Amino acid sequence: MNRMIIVVLLSVLLFSACETSKSLELLSPNGEIAFNLKLNENGQAFYKLQTNQNQIFSDSRLGIELSEDSLFTDGLRILNVVRNEKNENWKPVWGPNERILEKYNELIISLKNHANNDLNVHVRLFDDGLGFRYEIPKQNGIDSINITDELTEFNFAQNGTAWSIPANFDSYEMLYRTTKLSEVPDANTPITVKMESGYYVSIHEANLTNYAGMTLKNTGTTNFQANLVPWPDGVKVKAKKSLLSPWRTVMLCKNAAGLVESNLIQNLNEPCALPNTEWIEPMKYIGIWWGMHLGVETWTPGPIHGATTANMKKYIDFASKNNVQAVLAEGWNTGWENWGNPKAFDQITPYPDFDFDEIVKYAKSKDVELIGHHETGGDYIFYEESMDDAFMKLHVNGIRVVKTGYAGPIPNGQFHHGQKMVQHYRKVVETAAKYQLMLDAHEPIKATGISRTYPNMMTREGARGMEWNGWSEGNPPEHHLILPFTRCLGGPIDYTPGTFDILYKNRKEYTKWNSNDKGNSRVNTTLAKQLALWVCLYSPLQMASDLVSNYEGQPAFQFFENLPADFEESKVLEAEIGDVYAVARRKGSNWYVGAITDENAREIDLDLSFLDADKKYVATIYADTENTSLSDNPTEIKISKKAVDTRTSLHVKMQNSGGQAIEIREFKK
Ligand code: NOJ
Ligand code: CA
Repeated sequence: MNRMIIVVLLSVLLFSACETSKSLELLSPNGEIAFNLKLNENGQAFYKLQTNQNQIFSDSRLGIELSEDSLFTDGLRILNVVRNEKNENWKPVWGPNERILEKYNELIISLKNHANNDLNVHVRLFDDGLGFRYEIPKQNGIDSINITDELTEFNFAQNGTAWSIPANFDSYEMLYRTTKLSEVPDANTPITVKMESGYYVSIHEANLTNYAGMTLKNTGTTNFQANLVPWPDGVKVKAKKSLLSPWRTVMLCKNAAGLVESNLIQNLNEPCALPNTEWIEPMKYIGIWWGMHLGVETWTPGPIHGATTANMKKYIDFASKNNVQAVLAEGWNTGWENWGNPKAFDQITPYPDFDFDEIVKYAKSKDVELIGHHETGGDYIFYEESMDDAFMKLHVNGIRVVKTGYAGPIPNGQFHHGQKMVQHYRKVVETAAKYQLMLDAHEPIKATGISRTYPNMMTREGARGMEWNGWSEGNPPEHHLILPFTRCLGGPIDYTPGTFDILYKNRKEYTKWNSNDKGNSRVNTTLAKQLALWVCLYSPLQMASDLVSNYEGQPAFQFFENLPADFEESKVLEAEIGDVYAVARRKGSNWYVGAITDENAREIDLDLSFLDADKKYVATIYADTENTSLSDNPTEIKISKKAVDTRTSLHVKMQNSGGQAIEIREFKK
């Protein structure tokens, strides 16, 4: 056979009828979404994304640029294509749903560049979106990999409304902008867009492992390109002989509820890597925390030191009486007076007025768990030196949870979201697992679904949380209506809702400690909305943020007391980004509903047809009243009971930045 015939035969074998050696198509399992890849005459790779009705992305570039000669930018050709599919359910260790469907069609495309180097592109198309990633396999001629640019583009075919925070290499603690997509100069992910066609699209990444975090930059009207967080020398990603990028993800849904109900991010992560997970357990918690943010207690020792033995006992007592599993203490360890300096924090030695052993004993006697706290100030190098000892101290004392913090610059010009820190955050997760510790990370790397693989990675901050209400102009009413459709699409959030003293009426003298504090801080919601946020902002470690003195004698705290820490099923009942959100979560035969609104008062009807038709239920309703007012009477709440069943339509009335929390219990008598 001559060479020509072999080539023809090969291409017949490799490409189906509709495919050529320069273009490929992949359909979603339901056939409604199509991904197309093509190479142009210069061997540059592009993809596009469309639904039956609409173009979502027009031609968008793929490729990575290395500092070495062997570039994966031009001169690419398709060598081989493998097609797979998957349709399986899996069971997470915890989460808002007890079963997750993983159903996709896959394309693995092997490319070669002009120098015959190999690059594989993996593409998975689900009914609710797309994931694709790059793989540089081990090969002759590549001994080290330095990525200087990722060419990946997301070129929206039309404009739309975008909800985004600015690209930032160190922080996600910013307010959301609601703008035209074309007006977004750059963004952290997730960024969510309602396109003019009506489709909801959210761009993010899944399984961010040993790579730099991705931000987006606008390259012209509605065109965006990946912009990776660099190392101090400007290189974006460094690897030895091979590399596997995170998945670039595009959620694509017909409504906003679809985004929340999507499991795309988790589905693009590896199955559980831990040999046993019995020690992992969702919990509710309170802690010595808000007092410091309010400026009425301190992390450092002194007359108003928060983490004292006596104060801890008070919190432990409250937890044990009110069905709260765990108590956090911040400012328990020496070093807070050195915050801002290298090697500031000693994660082993308690302050003299915090009797660690006595507190451990006391908590045990009350059947309450303790949550350790490791603030690093950003000094990850020093933390890596002390981590094993610090984790061992917690483990031998029966402590199962640790909250970490990185409030401060990362040494040596590194960024919080660069590859070095991605490696560090993962090292903490893996080391914590060795000591059977669950994690709550503040100032973290963004959530990209790795909890599927490491279910001890429970929750994280990575957003403007409650703390900002303590010492700044606070989070505006719409913030909570954007979070579920942006930040929370990555995974659980430790927002820490539940501040009851909304206007800080019980705060007498306080010391201003934060430069953002203009003396006008408050929580910009009603009390009912605070309760609802415990349901709306899912976290397997869910905090009630206020001082326990503000919960004493408050009937509304019953909602938190009865709320489970984990759920079996969740249903979005109402969703419009930035406006309104209502979600119901089931544990056993009881349901917990949270409904929230932005700065506008709103009335909605909740269809309870999700209830079991054979059962009767009693709803306990925590609602704004006629007199509840965001400006001067935010804490007024009405608690009432009502018989409900599967035919009930529940009328929910919410004041400006108000909400409603509802517990629906099966009625068995
Ligand atoms: C910032 C964290 O978000 C907050 O929860 C914590 O109290 C402070 N850093 C101090 O660690
Ligand atoms: Ca923070």
